[in-house]
This record gives sequence, C-alpha cells and structure tokens, in this order.
Amino acid sequence: LLGSAVTALEQLTRVVSDFPSAGVVFRDITPVLADPGGLMAVTQALSVAVTQPFDLVAGLDARGFLLGAAVAVHTGCGVLAIRKAGKLAGAVIGKDYSLEYGTGRLELHPDDVPAGARVLVVDDVLATGGTAAAACSLLIQAGARIAGVAVVMELVDLGGRARVEAATDAPVVAIC
Ligand code: PRP
Ligand code: ADE
Repeated sequence: LLGSAVTALEQLTRVVSDFPSAGVVFRDITPVLADPGGLMAVTQALSVAVTQPFDLVAGLDARGFLLGAAVAVHTGCGVLAIRKAGKLAGAVIGKDYSLEYGTGRLELHPDDVPAGARVLVVDDVLATGGTAAAACSLLIQAGARIAGVAVVMELVDLGGRARVEAATDAPVVAIC
C-alpha cells in the first residue's frame, strides 16, 4: 500500500525549477492525482497514515482539498475546507502565515467544526510548515482536537515538521 503510493509519487511527480519564484524547486503532485492508480494509492496511504482515530478531515487550499475530500470519502468522514482569505462566505476565523515562497492568510468556518471533533489535517506538501501549523492553530481555536497531520510529501530540508509540532502535539506523518 505505502509502496505503491511511493512508487506513484516517484514516477509521476513533476519537478519544476524556479516555480513559483526563482530558486524554488516545486514538487507538483497533480500528475499523481490525475492517475487513477496514483490517486487511489495516495488516498489509501493518507487514510491510514495516522493511527489516532479521527471524525473529520481538513483539506488545505488548494491541492489539499482534493486529497482531503478523497480521504474523507474513503474513511467515511466529512471534510472541512481551510481556505485562503476572502473565499469563505460565512463567519470566519483567520491566521496569517508564511510559507516557502511568500505569505498568506488561512481562514476557517468555526461553525462547521463540532466541539471536540478529532480532525485529520491533510495536504500535499509539507515544506516550511507554515501552512500546516496555521491550519492546526485555527482548528484548535475552533474547538477541534488535532488527530494528526498527514501529507503526501515532506521536504525535510525545510524543517517544517518542527514548526507543525510547535502548533500541535499530534503526529505528523509523510508518505515520502
Ligand atoms: C503549497 C502546498 C502546501 C504549502 C506548503 O500550497 O500545497 O499547502 O504550500 O508550504 P509550507 O509548508 O512552506 O507552508 P500553496 O500555498 O502553494 O497553494 P496551492 O495548493 O494553492 O498551490
Ligand atoms: N509548497 C511549498 N514549497 C513547495 C514545493 N517546493 N513544492 C510544492 N509545494 C510546495
């Protein structure tokens, strides 16, 4: 299971130099998602990456939406969208963050989070960890508990794991 996800990621990830800005080596997993076997393998691997139980999945804007929804259907959970600022229609809470190539603001509908819900945070790439750490902080602010953070790919050199672990005690797991 993990093996086929890793194989799909190794074979299908598109590596783009100097995107979205000079000096960044961008790891684009959209070809993995476009491949039926790749999508299934990655969905299955993310679904079992964290052993702690969860009731809800949170997908991070934007590629995390695709993965989060797939994991939610696969595990029988609902899914939350943690979105870049200005996109959610209802009352929001927000948090500013920085990532490998810039800064941003993430927002969440707290009313969509049942009190005490155990949430699995899902995204494609963990780089500096700014995005995932901000998402965890928002979920905790909304009354959720973090069951874990599951990503497809961790760019270990960028040290994101420590930043996420400063925001939550929950396990951080990467497929590769
Ligand atoms: C990418 C990626 C993660 C984030 C990781 O998202 O999908 O969410 O960067 O970087 P970090 O660990 O340094 O925070 P991006 O903001 O580029 O958005 P996208 O999914 O809309 O392309
Ligand atoms: N998000 C932050 N850094 C990234 C990278 N190098 N490739 C893909 N997504 C990213």
